[in-house]
Amino acid sequence: MLIEYRALGKRFWKGGKPVQAIDNLSFSVAKGEFVSVVGPSGCGKSTLLNLAAGLMAPTSGEVRYAGEPVRDVNHRVGYMTQKDSLMPWRTVEGNVDLALRIQGVARGERRDRTRHYINLVGLGGFEQHYPGELSGGMRKRVALARLLVYDPETLLMDEPFGALDAQLKMVMHEELLAIRDRTNKTIVFVTHDLTEAVTLSDRVVVLAPRPGRVKLIHEVPLERPRNVFQIRFTPRFGEIFETLWSAIEQDMRKGEEV
Ligand SMILES: Nc1ncnc2c1ncn2[C@@H]1O[C@H](COP(=O)(O)OP(=O)(O)OP(=O)(O)O)[C@@H](O)[C@H]1O
Ligand SMILES: [Mg+2]
Repeated sequence: MLIEYRALGKRFWKGGKPVQAIDNLSFSVAKGEFVSVVGPSGCGKSTLLNLAAGLMAPTSGEVRYAGEPVRDVNHRVGYMTQKDSLMPWRTVEGNVDLALRIQGVARGERRDRTRHYINLVGLGGFEQHYPGELSGGMRKRVALARLLVYDPETLLMDEPFGALDAQLKMVMHEELLAIRDRTNKTIVFVTHDLTEAVTLSDRVVVLAPRPGRVKLIHEVPLERPRNVFQIRFTPRFGEIFETLWSAIEQDMRKGEEV
């Protein structure tokens, strides 16, 4: 297993009071696997990615990457955070090529790779624009190009397509799956969109409301390569969707009673 969450607990302190964000959560992600994580707001999805990226430490249990506990910033993952965190003083091109500069990639190659990914996310012509001159969806696409350009082993993606319109979202799905099929990257993908989760994943992990625990893990044994535009209309897709939906619906009803 490439990523392992083992009996994980994470508690935050806010104004002297503890907030148990995650409690006794375990699941693993195999190398080359595409796993989506869904669950209600505040159940610890972003926290799970932060832990795998080594940006914070667990309160109990552990997170392992390639067999070793994650103790420090994990350089083998690329992380597209929920907020796009672009640098406002750098152009689109300057934001996308930053990681390559840090890696010391030569100028010509840097330029080629940067242009390639800017075009891939449909932003050709916007290289010299600043983040403040772009729409929310365009900024997300810059963040996606910035993630892909340095070719990390594992992609951690936190609602990467949430701000995109339905059509563009599907185009991005197609691109992401093409990259995955080509490179066999491991992907952990947080989303609120169940259709998106089933379309893309090998497995979907449903978390229970805070404190986050695993409620259900469901396989998505749909053939690859997948047609992201059509797959949602197949009966098998419908069955998987329905099982996941009823798990989520249960928690929505509980929420109403409180
Ligand atoms: N740095 C922090 N300090 C204090 N509390 C935090 C911190 N990060 C997260 N939390 C709390 O932990 C819980 C889980 O937060 P997290 O951001 O992981 O949720 P989420 O599942 O990603 O939610 P959403 O779907 O809204 O993005 C929340 O109650 C949140 O307030
Ligand atoms: Mg979040």
